[in-house]
Amino acid sequence: MLAVSACLAFGVSAAPASNQADVSGQPWMNASLSPDRRADLVIKQMTLDEKIQLVHGTGWGVLTPGSPIPERSNFGAGYVPGIERLGIPDINLADSAVGVRMAAYQSRYATLLPSTLGAASSWDPEAAFLYGSVIGRELRAQGFNMSIGGGVDLMREPRNGRNFEYAGEDPLLAGTMTGYLIKGVQSQHVMGDIKHYAFNDQETGRMVYSAEIDKRAARESDLLAFQIGIDIGHPAGVMCAYNRVNGVYSCENPWLLTDVLKDDFGFKGWVLSDWSGTHSTVEAALAGLDMEMPGDDGYFGKALKQAVLDGKVPESRLDDMVHRILRSMFAVGVIDHPVMPRRVVNPFRGRRDARRIAEKSIVLLKNEKQLLPLDASSIQSIALIGSHADVGVLSGGGSAQVDAPGGNAADPHAGGAGWGETVYFPSSPLRSIRKHAPEATVTFDAGTDIAAAVASAKKAQVAIVFVNQPMYESKDRSTLSLPGKQNALVSAVAKANPHTLVVLETGGPVTMPWANRVEGIIEAWYPGIGGAQALANLLFGKVNFSAKLPATFPRDESQLPHPQVTGIDLPMVEGKDGSKMRPPFEVDYNKAGARVGYKWFESKGLEPLFPFGFGLSYTSYAYSDLSVDADGGSATLTVKNTGQRAGTEIAEVYAVLPKASGEDYKRLVGFQRVTLDPGQSKTVTIALNKLCLSIYDAKKDAMVHIPGIYTVYAGPSSAKTPLKATFAIKP
Ligand code: BGC
Repeated sequence: MLAVSACLAFGVSAAPASNQADVSGQPWMNASLSPDRRADLVIKQMTLDEKIQLVHGTGWGVLTPGSPIPERSNFGAGYVPGIERLGIPDINLADSAVGVRMAAYQSRYATLLPSTLGAASSWDPEAAFLYGSVIGRELRAQGFNMSIGGGVDLMREPRNGRNFEYAGEDPLLAGTMTGYLIKGVQSQHVMGDIKHYAFNDQETGRMVYSAEIDKRAARESDLLAFQIGIDIGHPAGVMCAYNRVNGVYSCENPWLLTDVLKDDFGFKGWVLSDWSGTHSTVEAALAGLDMEMPGDDGYFGKALKQAVLDGKVPESRLDDMVHRILRSMFAVGVIDHPVMPRRVVNPFRGRRDARRIAEKSIVLLKNEKQLLPLDASSIQSIALIGSHADVGVLSGGGSAQVDAPGGNAADPHAGGAGWGETVYFPSSPLRSIRKHAPEATVTFDAGTDIAAAVASAKKAQVAIVFVNQPMYESKDRSTLSLPGKQNALVSAVAKANPHTLVVLETGGPVTMPWANRVEGIIEAWYPGIGGAQALANLLFGKVNFSAKLPATFPRDESQLPHPQVTGIDLPMVEGKDGSKMRPPFEVDYNKAGARVGYKWFESKGLEPLFPFGFGLSYTSYAYSDLSVDADGGSATLTVKNTGQRAGTEIAEVYAVLPKASGEDYKRLVGFQRVTLDPGQSKTVTIALNKLCLSIYDAKKDAMVHIPGIYTVYAGPSSAKTPLKATFAIKP
């Protein structure tokens, strides 16, 4: 057993010992055979004990101080020892939702990317692929061969502490972005994962609540996001969630794991439990769980072996678990291209990629009286206020936390970030803005004393207030308000300076009682290590804004299906292990059903603060000439840049299904980024997603196209769809 040691910052840690035997002559090393065939050839050689060894990890390791760390573990969130004599490598898993986690403890460097919710605002599969490639590249360099990121739980609850590591409220957008992210990870021969399957849409009571939802609503919302993500990304793993779904734990839910995921989606990889999310041996194994993580809590080790010997779990089911693991290792290439640790992450390449993604992710929500872009040649004074904008940008916490190079920029201390700590990364907006406007006086005020902030705002031509909403795993916020006195700060500054711009660094939507009193609003999310440079490039017009919201921003909580986070007020009780937890409760997802986000708002006739799909730029666009294929396979439309600057517009296509669907809202069915010079027009054909035009037919237990008239809309946001066309499906 090894102890975690801290070496030099940015240095190279000791490589874990290799367990590769020379198996080059073995039949399963023939790369021309299919991954399934190769897996079968290995399984034929395996003993029962070896099979059992592969279906559970070795424990909490580095995640829990004092836990043993196996010698060959690479200090990640999980470790599954391989089978040395057969040349099957260890699986070293690392949390890596927005960059590789826990790098500091091993003296490694990792790139913090913008939050995945931010990246989803790009509506750009290429950006998502790049995102995943950065993660895959850095995991490989650090000796990991599996990423556990790929969060795609839909934003049913905008106060969810983990929204920043998911991809918004729409199944098509979230599924597409997550699918391409996984593709990017796996392009580096690192196995990808999609999580948390399913309906882990809030953190409050995640270990105990049951998400109550009928099958149709489930298949047309969160499960559809998983389906699309899996179709595109073919992840090696699906991580089942902590919570129950319709009363049954996700990790032993046969409907979720076998009927839907494996039989209907055709998922070929393996299901791994969330960390200590396994609750049984026989039930879980028969329901479709393939691996207990992070270790054998008494279910998939000795107990599973005994269950197989007793015939309670057929050996063929154990073989299926092992087959799924091995075939994924062959398919992604972790056996043919084993990781070669001891390589160093290139931080400059990482930062450049992170900046490029951030430039496509930061959303311009309001820009009155041409406040932006700032003119570097004429502006004389800018007052920056709040959120440590002198030193850094905010990141999200929990298992998605990446360690800041050099430590927390706002609160330097040795080692990695603590759980729930508010961590700023060293990407200084003050420095980047000064670089763009070297002649201007650019000041910074911490924003902690409102009178001092007002005084500094009064002295400047433009005041930029940075506001923040730190979010982290295991905790939801009880409100959508900005924490602390930030609303009062913005209101006071706006009163003192008519040219006030607010930059939001939030995990998800927030309310903005001051929205009418400021000239500009930017949603920067958690923008990553290149965040300040990206923001400055956008503020000064070096880069045009193109991002659009991946989630609705409500006016207030009363507009939500659940005005209060369900269960948040339940008193804590003592759990089995003595820890305090909420008693089991139900979250009623049938209330909104498949009407998540903008669909809920439309069906209830509610007007949000900012709608899904909304975002401004420094130019303007006009839409015309929508037509749709006879079978609804694609839509063709023309977008024109009617302004003075080049830009990229995201064209959005929605559909209202035939009356027989019973639906009273639009669904996003296609989208595309279109880059245009001033005055230029482009006619684009956008593929419409078949699944998004389908409903779940319970009798047929399948997604089907129903006959009738489909009305297709297109435009710049969910709330503005000037073009309309129809197509019909005959009975
Ligand atoms: C989280 C997972 C994470 C795992 C390992 C769990 O608590 O829900 O998302 O991958 O821990 O850190």
